[in-house]
Amino acid sequence: MDLGISGKTALVCGASKGLGYGCAEALVREGANVVIVARGAAGLDAAARALSKVAADAGSRNFVKQVTADITTAEGRKAVLSLHSEFDIVVTNAGGPPPGDFRAWNRETWIRAIDANMLAPVELIRASVDGMATRGFGRIVNITSSAVKAPISFLGLSNGARSGLTGFVAGIARSSIAAKGVTINNLLPGSFETDRLQATFVGSAERSGEDLDTVVTRHKQLIPARRLGTAAEFGAICAFLCSVHAGYLTGQNVLADGGAYPGTY
Ligand SMILES: NC(=O)c1ccc[n+]([C@@H]2O[C@H](COP(=O)([O-])OP(=O)(O)OC[C@H]3O[C@@H](n4cnc5c(N)ncnc54)[C@H](OP(=O)(O)O)[C@@H]3O)[C@@H](O)[C@H]2O)c1
Repeated sequence: MDLGISGKTALVCGASKGLGYGCAEALVREGANVVIVARGAAGLDAAARALSKVAADAGSRNFVKQVTADITTAEGRKAVLSLHSEFDIVVTNAGGPPPGDFRAWNRETWIRAIDANMLAPVELIRASVDGMATRGFGRIVNITSSAVKAPISFLGLSNGARSGLTGFVAGIARSSIAAKGVTINNLLPGSFETDRLQATFVGSAERSGEDLDTVVTRHKQLIPARRLGTAAEFGAICAFLCSVHAGYLTGQNVLADGGAYPGTY
């Protein structure tokens, strides 16, 4: 299927590895120009080189640009938007907040989580949505978490901050921009094979004293698909949400979790 986004320009945040990289790669394969963002310059360089190769192998002339920045800060977003401001596609993403006991968190802990996982996406939407509406096409995909639908007790900062973003998106996606070709959706990962998930498994193994294989195998048994998802699978769903074919799909929370969420709706 031709997704119809060749030549469109996408901002993909948190894209030097993991799910963000998967989204950037899928968009590049579709012929989109991409601007990728991460804090670590070395990882970002490597990702930009890999994406340029994907584009070249596909015979595409689209560009891959990179901005080394912390997207959760005003300075970081300014650096990105000064390189390019008229994005057709914006994929918001940053690292998730740390796990822990809510009794240990103070106001500063909460503000950091809300800044990263709620206000940074809100600011990127604010910076891009009106231009998209004027040009008659726009796609915003926020990478959130399955924890928005099925909260995880020790990820209270993630449950809380991402739920705030989810509520905001539910309203704004249905505002006047909906009639102007702009969609905003949230893409909710369950368990995907990335460095972040691996670190979570390592932490669980250390806490329980079990070996890593035992922890990972047990986790997979809880997923009807009996496996972890891949960043490429996640990217393919993201690219579809960004496609011309998904113009009637907005304000949704799309869960990609191998069937792990046990609800009917
Ligand atoms: N993997 C899963 O199964 C899963 C499940 C549920 C939710 N999630 C959520 O999905 C998101 C992506 O997870 P992932 O597994 O892909 O993580 P990952 O493998 O750790 O990759 C995170 C990427 O984001 C970049 N990044 C982190 N903080 C950033 C910041 N402040 N500004 C700019 N770039 C930043 C990282 O590069 P630098 O460190 O160099 O900046 C890296 O490129 C996270 O919010 C995570 O909580 C993931």
